[in-house]
Amino acid sequence: MDLSAARQRVTELRRLIEEHNYRYYVLDQPVISDQEYDALMRELLALEEAYPELRTPDSPSQRVGGAPREEFAQVRHPQALLSLNDAFNEGELLDFDRRVRELAGGPVEYVIEAKIDGLAVALTYNDGLFTLGATRGDGQVGEEVTANLKTIPALPLRLRRSLPLLVVRGEVYMPKGAFTALNAAREEAGEPLFANPRNAAAGSLRQLDPKITASRSLSLFVYQVISLRGATVFTQTGALDFLAEVGLPVNPYRVLAPDIQAVLAEVKAWTPEKRAALPYEIDGLVIKVNDLALHPVLGATAKAPRWAMAYKFPAEQATARVEGIILRVGRTGVLTPTAVLTPVRLAGTTVSRATLHNEDYIREKDIRIGDTVIVQKAGDIIPEVVAVLPERRTGVEEAFTMPERCPACGAAVVRPPGEAAHRCTGGLACPAQVLEGIIHFASRGAMDIQGLGPAIVAQLLEAGLLHDAADLYYLKKEDLVKLERFAEQSAGNLVAAIAASKEQPLERLLFALGIRHVGQRAARVLAGHFRTLDRLAGASLEEITDLPDIGPRIAESIREFFAEPRNLAVLEKLQRAGVRLTAAGAGTAAPGTAVPDTTAGPLTGKTFVLTGTLPGMTRQEAEKLITSAGGKVSSSVSKKTDYVVAGDKPGSKYDRARELGVPVIDLEGLKRLLEGKRSWRREDLYDRV
Ligand code: IVH
Repeated sequence: MDLSAARQRVTELRRLIEEHNYRYYVLDQPVISDQEYDALMRELLALEEAYPELRTPDSPSQRVGGAPREEFAQVRHPQALLSLNDAFNEGELLDFDRRVRELAGGPVEYVIEAKIDGLAVALTYNDGLFTLGATRGDGQVGEEVTANLKTIPALPLRLRRSLPLLVVRGEVYMPKGAFTALNAAREEAGEPLFANPRNAAAGSLRQLDPKITASRSLSLFVYQVISLRGATVFTQTGALDFLAEVGLPVNPYRVLAPDIQAVLAEVKAWTPEKRAALPYEIDGLVIKVNDLALHPVLGATAKAPRWAMAYKFPAEQATARVEGIILRVGRTGVLTPTAVLTPVRLAGTTVSRATLHNEDYIREKDIRIGDTVIVQKAGDIIPEVVAVLPERRTGVEEAFTMPERCPACGAAVVRPPGEAAHRCTGGLACPAQVLEGIIHFASRGAMDIQGLGPAIVAQLLEAGLLHDAADLYYLKKEDLVKLERFAEQSAGNLVAAIAASKEQPLERLLFALGIRHVGQRAARVLAGHFRTLDRLAGASLEEITDLPDIGPRIAESIREFFAEPRNLAVLEKLQRAGVRLTAAGAGTAAPGTAVPDTTAGPLTGKTFVLTGTLPGMTRQEAEKLITSAGGKVSSSVSKKTDYVVAGDKPGSKYDRARELGVPVIDLEGLKRLLEGKRSWRREDLYDRV
């Protein structure tokens, strides 16, 4: 195929794909199968691969997700994106109607829409092309998430009609099915679960890597025209029709109500069953004045327009008996109490567990074992205990107290000052923490070891094959085949998957290590800056906190992590197994980068300060050793110092180093560095206190 034939076919394919998207997402009337659709997309991708000059920003192929970003740009909305006032009962709706009629000077017609429980976004189309997408943020300033929004199949990259300008407001949401599947996968991977589809949608849209957003099955409904040039709309229903006509997804539910009585009747018609039957969450209805000419007349407060009101559905509740309270020990040792309930039906599912959050929550609500309680689904997904029915008490109920010893390992349980959580102090000696830690290590966002879910990790721990995450890399196929559930093939697959993970990028390893407060975002920033685990281990508090998005809490826990001998032992084992501890290309100067004017060697770029008497070596000799290996020797300790080498009777420089968090090593440690060895031995970062 030559270029001009390819161009023709590419244009045709784009038209077809957008047409099928429109039929699927807007009209809800697909005419081809998913396979046929995929075939069109594959053909388009192949042609664009062969002829990159044919790629355009509005090609449906661009939905796969662009390059990851460091952070989101902030955008100021040209017009504030207001919130809505809430009504919880008929009386509040009648009050709303009275105010509206007073200001409007007569009767008004309303339109009722579904209140989609998602994340509000503003979408800008210039000359029909999707050019800018932002989250609502605080209403004034949001985050620019254009690339992420482009991955949402329901969002047209080009309108079906070219208009000079259209700015719309809509809601990005995660369908219930996608939410359940996402949480199931996260559970399997040992990752924290999303509390509800709204949080999941928000978390997925605010990903720095659009490829993650693309994998999350988000969808969209638009409901409000913010700016429009090249056409006119007069009513809200007219606006919804217009939005659908230009190709934007509009929720099919809308009801015109000639007056507030009709609104109240419609509100009543929304039974829990009707709501449960929808494939996405709605948390209420939005009642809007239909005549757009009245909107500026009615105006707005600083928070919300006076021409609209949200009617919030009451949360569904049920009563159940607390049969017991169990504790789960998480990866960081936090003990989370959970109520075990007599099973009850609630908002379409059977509930037998409810979170109790922490001890304060239990105390505040005075929840006792044996109590009859009211449970409710928060965001209608995760059940929680809202209140106790004390009149149902018979006197046999038992108050709950947090145990003094961890139920998993027997170590002391403490409640750190200022925290609501109780923690097990067993650390890596606590089997529950070890289990959770290894599950996290292998999970999708971390080392992503296929086939190593929670059940297998538990089995390997029980068999005594694992004591920490690094042991994974020493597992042999012969050991695995002896275990129940493992066959020749599955054992081989697991060993291969573990071996493959050795090459995971540094940022994943950093996240996988489970350093407290170091999430994926912080791990990426740290890996990008330090490039090797070694440099991060030797970094001072200041150097770490100087990085964007890294606060003192993160820096502190990084230092704590590297000061813990057991962690250093795990790192050493990882290193011996050949796990990559450096970012790709670390250590080699990029072309065009000025190389510092010192001898290149294992200490290049490192600054040392010497203090005390070094055994068997004069200070000059030590200095020579350092400079000939590319390092610098300085006479005073600052936050720029990489290491303080301390001998006998060290002076004030030692104290200064401790103050600034600069690592202190001994002569042995220096020698290891000189040999180019990554030194993880605790003795290297020695401590004289
Ligand atoms: S109208 C200026 N219509 O609910 C008023 N909002 O709790 C614009 N929402 O922040 C809002 N579905 O994000 C409107 N059909 C709908 C909606 C809707 C969901 C969201 C919106 C708003 C929130 C208020």
